[in-house]
Amino acid sequence: MKYIFKLTVIVVWLATGCHHQPPKEEGQQPADRQKTLDWPTYGGNNAGNRYSPLTQINTSNVQQLRLAWTYDTDENNNPNERAMSIQCQPIVVDGILYGATPQMKLFAVDAATGKQLWKFDPFADPDKKPRFHPLRGVMYWEDGEDKRILYSVGSFLYAIDAANGKQIKSFGTQGTVDLHEGLGDQETLGHEVDQLSISASTPGVIYKDLVIMGSSVSEAGDAPPGHIRAFNVRTGKLAWVFHTIPLPGEFGYETWSEDAYQKIGGANCWAGMVLDEKRGMVFLGTGSPSVDFYGGARIGQNLFANCVVALDAETGKRKWHFQTVHHDLWDRDLPCPPTLLTVEHQGRQVDAVAQATKDGYVFLFDRDTGTPLFEVKEVPVPTTPTLPGEQLWPTQPVPVKPAPFAMQELTEDNITDRTPEAHAYVLDRFRNSRHGSKYMPTSLEGTLYFGFGGGAEWGGNAADPQGILYQNSNNMLWWLVMRDVGKESATAQLTKGETLFNANCAACHGIGGKGSGGGEGGQAYPVLTNVGKRLSREQIRSLLATGRGRMPSFQHISEDNRETIINFLLKTESQVKALQTASNDDDNFPYMPPFLNNGNTQFRDQDGYPAIKPPWGTLNAIDMNTGEYLWQVTLGEYPELTKQGIPATGTENHGGPIVTAGGLVFIAATYDEHLRAFDKQTGEIVWEYKLPAGGFATPITYMVDGKQYLVIAAGGTRYELKPGGSYVAFALP
Ligand code: HEC
Repeated sequence: MKYIFKLTVIVVWLATGCHHQPPKEEGQQPADRQKTLDWPTYGGNNAGNRYSPLTQINTSNVQQLRLAWTYDTDENNNPNERAMSIQCQPIVVDGILYGATPQMKLFAVDAATGKQLWKFDPFADPDKKPRFHPLRGVMYWEDGEDKRILYSVGSFLYAIDAANGKQIKSFGTQGTVDLHEGLGDQETLGHEVDQLSISASTPGVIYKDLVIMGSSVSEAGDAPPGHIRAFNVRTGKLAWVFHTIPLPGEFGYETWSEDAYQKIGGANCWAGMVLDEKRGMVFLGTGSPSVDFYGGARIGQNLFANCVVALDAETGKRKWHFQTVHHDLWDRDLPCPPTLLTVEHQGRQVDAVAQATKDGYVFLFDRDTGTPLFEVKEVPVPTTPTLPGEQLWPTQPVPVKPAPFAMQELTEDNITDRTPEAHAYVLDRFRNSRHGSKYMPTSLEGTLYFGFGGGAEWGGNAADPQGILYQNSNNMLWWLVMRDVGKESATAQLTKGETLFNANCAACHGIGGKGSGGGEGGQAYPVLTNVGKRLSREQIRSLLATGRGRMPSFQHISEDNRETIINFLLKTESQVKALQTASNDDDNFPYMPPFLNNGNTQFRDQDGYPAIKPPWGTLNAIDMNTGEYLWQVTLGEYPELTKQGIPATGTENHGGPIVTAGGLVFIAATYDEHLRAFDKQTGEIVWEYKLPAGGFATPITYMVDGKQYLVIAAGGTRYELKPGGSYVAFALP
């Protein structure tokens, strides 16, 4: 009884007194025999299809759902502390629900009552500085009485005893594995990595005695490589490494500028992965290489950045890969894990893997070979670079089916008409900036794009055994202006402090800290021009050391350089224009790109609404057998616009859907703080409930003692909404 899927089976089968063949791993148990059914992994099962065979809650009775219990984490309620949202999709094993609090504590509650069994605080250890970041889930492993929760906080992976919440000290070094392990060092990369920022916001997968992990890393010049690692779940020992940025001599090395691997990082899997246990294969999507919007130091196709990768789970050896964006200049990370499903294709049943993208595509592959099931065309794209040193890749892959689920190109026709003023405001920006193909090169003049944010987001999608994919989507417009920092530094227009700031901080805070107008999820990055009025030197120092929320820690920058940046922010830097640019210990690293993005800006109208015509957020049902849409509906509304008589526009949405054999798709994710059930046949809303705070997470469903529950984290905080700190459970009366 070593592995999760067996555990689920045994729980189900003991409960029903049967000893039949185990059900398929993708959760297709005959639903009527169940008394107890877990949700044992992030994504619901190894296939990551977020499908439950439960039918107790169904289209005929969902209107009767009511609150069963609330678990209050007791966080996010101090008005003097900045709140963190909850993105966690919890797991349920053996009737116990395991999840994370906004401040990264791990907890176990009785899944039928919400009563707390234990809580683990990683920062109780004085050696571990608080480091808050999104945490989307946790992992479970067991062998006999040895039952472990694995989860990561900051740069550490923890193994916690599932019975009592105590850290298992024999795991790794004193109970943690350092996620820097296996990324490389001076000898292999030409620089050390141990001080670079890394975390893992999304759980990995467990295969036999291995925990296979992706990572979140910087997207600037200080990014470590995003190699995939497997660690032994008992000892924490590194078992294998897959180089997402190949080293000299390895397959794919020639798809980069020579020696780019010494200064380029990223190509990391931050969105999670899925497992085909029977085939012993793990499937994952990678992100763009650093730095996000300029590729002059990484000429070439850049394998295995922006790839769906299939690895042998035992060894980490590559089975196949498929690149969804060549030489990415647009931050088009694969934003969610692939989804395993079975489809009927040309008259035969095919085990397939689907991958959704930020810019609205779904790629569908044969799981064994990686061959696309619907043709993918290599389409010619703009090739004339606008920034010196850049070399665009001449073609990009476009699946002929399904049609994109998100907007592709801004035209005068789809500019907002919410009010004449909003239309005029956006039209002016449209006429005075570059716009057109989403593969236009980035420019100093400023360009309007779709697809820097989802499209598909980290909530992923759900798929049922009929091969229907349920995908929520955003239509977000972005405005990107590049700045020639190389020239500015060379002509000494910048001080050393500003140069360092721009290299390390501007990707979020804008050049010189002037702000970026609203980042991913509508959460503005703070403007720092007057930060000295709000924070003391000591407070900034401490923030740079620990990070907070999506603000990474900067322990990897030397203390001198950190002080120089702080001097710049506090305007105490000598105004003598230092000719000398940032002093690197090493010529290659951190890499100082000659062009930087001026923040990462979502472009909205002057009232803060999306700059385009609705729908602004949608839910889609796509038949992956045929590649055709069954339906597309708006997801969410702005209550104040609905009051004005405007039909539901859909809203930006973060968090994913689940689908059940009861005929329902459950999803929250929207600005209006509702949890909704949609009829999976028609896309009609059949139930909705206003949560105590926005549910920017993916729900789960499970059964304990014959009762089916639906649970979601209500953490709020996104889009400047009120924070929340609870998990809420629903059941039939
Ligand atoms: C990946 C994006 C990102 C990068 C890179 C980044 N920051 Fe931040 N920063 C943030 C976010 C998000 C916040 C708000 C954090 C929170 O939720 O409390 C923040 C907050 C801050 C604050 C506090 C502002 C306030 O008013 O409370 C300071 C100061 C700051 N950052 C400085 C820096 C400096 C200096 C650098 C570079 C060395 C940097 N940041 C790099 C995202 C970033």
